[in-house]
Amino acid sequence: MRKIRLGVNIDHVATLRNARNENFPNLLDVSKILKEIQVDSITVHLREDRRHIRDKDVIDLKEKNYLPLNLEMAATKEMKDLCLKILPESCCIVPERREELTTEGGLDVKNQMDYLGTFLPDLKKKMKVSLFVDPDFDQIRASKDLGVAAVELHTGKYSNLFREKKQHNELERINKAAKLCRDIGLDCHAGHGLNFENVKDISQIDEILELNVGHFLVSHSLYTGLKDTILKFMKIIDHPKSK
Ligand code: PXP
Repeated sequence: MRKIRLGVNIDHVATLRNARNENFPNLLDVSKILKEIQVDSITVHLREDRRHIRDKDVIDLKEKNYLPLNLEMAATKEMKDLCLKILPESCCIVPERREELTTEGGLDVKNQMDYLGTFLPDLKKKMKVSLFVDPDFDQIRASKDLGVAAVELHTGKYSNLFREKKQHNELERINKAAKLCRDIGLDCHAGHGLNFENVKDISQIDEILELNVGHFLVSHSLYTGLKDTILKFMKIIDHPKSK
C-alpha cells in the first residue's frame, strides 16, 4: 500500500500568536495535537524578517521533539549556522525575497550550482535536504546533480490555476516532474496552496511521497473550531442563547 506522508506547516499559528505576543496559540500545544493525530512531521519556515516563526520556536520544537522537524530556510549563512546548531531532521531550501507574502516561485537551482554546491554539503552530512523547485525538468536534474535527497515541487501555480479550473496542464507538468524524480532517484515532495479540493489530484500521483501543507489547514480549522469555542464561551457567561 502507498504511504504518503503529511507534514504540517505551523507558520501561521505563529502569525496569530505574534498578533498578541502572549504565547497563545502555543506552538508546542499545537504540535502535541499534531502528534496525537499522527501526522508525519512539522514544518516551519524561519524567514529572514522573522515575521512568524522565531529562532526560539525552532529551538523549542526541536527540544520537545514531538514530531520530526523540517526547517524551511533561505540559502544564507545565517540560516545554515542556525540549522546546524538546532539540527532538525530535515531542511528544505527555499528562495526568499523580503517583500513577498509567501514563497512565490521555486529555487533557481540551475543558475546557482556553484553557490549551492558549496552551501549544501555541511547540511547534507547532518540531515535530509530538499530543494523547493518548480516542476521543471532542468531544475530537478540540477538538484540531483547537487546530491540532495529530495525536491519539493512548488504547487503554487497549480493551486492558483485550479481556482479558474485551468489547472490541467500544470497538473500534467507536476505529474511528469514527479515521474522524473522517481526515474533519477530523488524523493519527490510537493506543497504550497494545497486544500481539500485541489489536493485530490496531487495525492493521486504515486511518485509524490510527501505533502507539506500550512495556510489552508490552519485557516480552515477556524471554520471547524469557531462554533464549539464560542458556544463554550457563551455557556461560561450564561448567555441566554446557550441554553
Ligand atoms: N512547502 C514550502 C517549501 C513552502 O515554502 C510552503 C509555504 O511556507 C509550504 C510548503 C506550505 O504552503 P501553504 O502554507 O500554502 O500550504
